[in-house]
Amino acid sequence: GRAQFGVAGMGVMGQSLALNVADHGFKVAVWDRHPERFEDLRKKGAPASLKGYAELAEFVGALERPRRILLMVTAGAAVDSMLEKLEPLLEPGDVVLDGGNSWFQDTRKREAEWKAKGLHFLGVGVSGGEEGARHGPSIMPGGPAEAYGLVRPVLEAIAARSEAGVCVTHVGPDGAGHFVKMVHNGIEYADMQLLAETYDLLKRGLGLSAEQLADLFAQWNQGIAESFLLETTIKVLRKKDGETGRPLVDLVLDKAGQKGTGKWTVQVSLDLGVPVPSIAGALDARNLSSMKDERVAASRSLHGPTGESLSAEEKTNLAAWVHDALYAARVVTYAQGLRLIQAASNEYKWNVSLAEMARIWRAGCIIRAKLLTPLREAFEKKPDLSNLMLADSLAPVLEKMAPGWRRTVSVATRLGIAVPVFSASLAYFDSYRSAELPQNLTQAQRDAFGAHTYQRRDRPEAGFVHSDWS
Ligand code: 6PG
Repeated sequence: GRAQFGVAGMGVMGQSLALNVADHGFKVAVWDRHPERFEDLRKKGAPASLKGYAELAEFVGALERPRRILLMVTAGAAVDSMLEKLEPLLEPGDVVLDGGNSWFQDTRKREAEWKAKGLHFLGVGVSGGEEGARHGPSIMPGGPAEAYGLVRPVLEAIAARSEAGVCVTHVGPDGAGHFVKMVHNGIEYADMQLLAETYDLLKRGLGLSAEQLADLFAQWNQGIAESFLLETTIKVLRKKDGETGRPLVDLVLDKAGQKGTGKWTVQVSLDLGVPVPSIAGALDARNLSSMKDERVAASRSLHGPTGESLSAEEKTNLAAWVHDALYAARVVTYAQGLRLIQAASNEYKWNVSLAEMARIWRAGCIIRAKLLTPLREAFEKKPDLSNLMLADSLAPVLEKMAPGWRRTVSVATRLGIAVPVFSASLAYFDSYRSAELPQNLTQAQRDAFGAHTYQRRDRPEAGFVHSDWS
């Protein structure tokens, strides 16, 4: 019989997903330009029900109809070139899934073009790295509901599972899936930066070694702060370099890379007018880190505070404060990311369920964390909750953790240790909870120098007015 599912592109993610599909009893056809990759698959234990094809036409011909083909190629031009080659080989009703980190506007365009040709296109966010792809990723498919129905059994079979069910759902039409995956990555950047700030402050502020930090984080990971990224941090901190015996993390150059999804998240947030300062702070932190040579030069002429040290009280409590800061700032980061998804969902009429997003992020993906359970419950209870920070279950927690969060930022500031995401998150919290902000002054300035007009608090019925400020 014919293969039930096709995977095109045998990079690490493509291979892992193909093996995962085969594990679940589906007959799988895979395509790659480099047939050597089929050898890799055999070595990784591919069953006989998985067959490799180096010819695209043979690969397509091996699939039962309607064909279901998952593209696992690099986002951008490679996707368009694959679609161009596939299109003449396909027939009405066939489904192509793009499993890469594609720009959601590209996905919207591709989906509309394919619809016009009678073909289905799904933009599918896949998270969890190699391990997740192999044994259970979190999957965020967007596109026509009908097409989702055709691939649903396969996606549900391979996805991760949590106590709240299988980590895949139909996110919404057109670019919704890739948008949600992009925001997932933006949250990932912020959460990673929060962990970096935590590490830095406890290392330089308290003088903890990598091993001591790992022990402390292992304790935290037993409680409400539990997360995959915290677990990964522990693993990283414990690793010793084979040659020098030193913690390997100390030998890693402090210049962060990025592939673009964090930048897109911030770009979209500016377009939609939705503040995501925690994510933007994390992106800037990576960019600043990359200016290594400049920083090394500047470190010789720009000096931080001298003679500052921690009080006995601070030494005793800093770790507990930072724990609370980490949790609170993470809540704020999720609040911003979900707000951005909500705004895009309204703009593009996607009808995305935030409770469902929290549910499918609970396992498999990089940002999976214990926090996602109360987060899901909050949106189940109140689907129209305007901001996660207002949730009945989370507002009191933020309140309780705010003192430690403030002490964290103030200690770091006093020591001259940058904590951009701890502080940006705190500023977001403090701004959001303020009935009064100083933008009365901003409006007055705009009117004073440019006659941009302003509204009066005492006469709202007057609308926009102008004054002579001289
Ligand atoms: C995932 C990851 C994955 C990825 C990004 C990270 O969900 O599995 O988010 O998509 O690791 O490539 O992006 P940067 O390379 O920009 O850090």
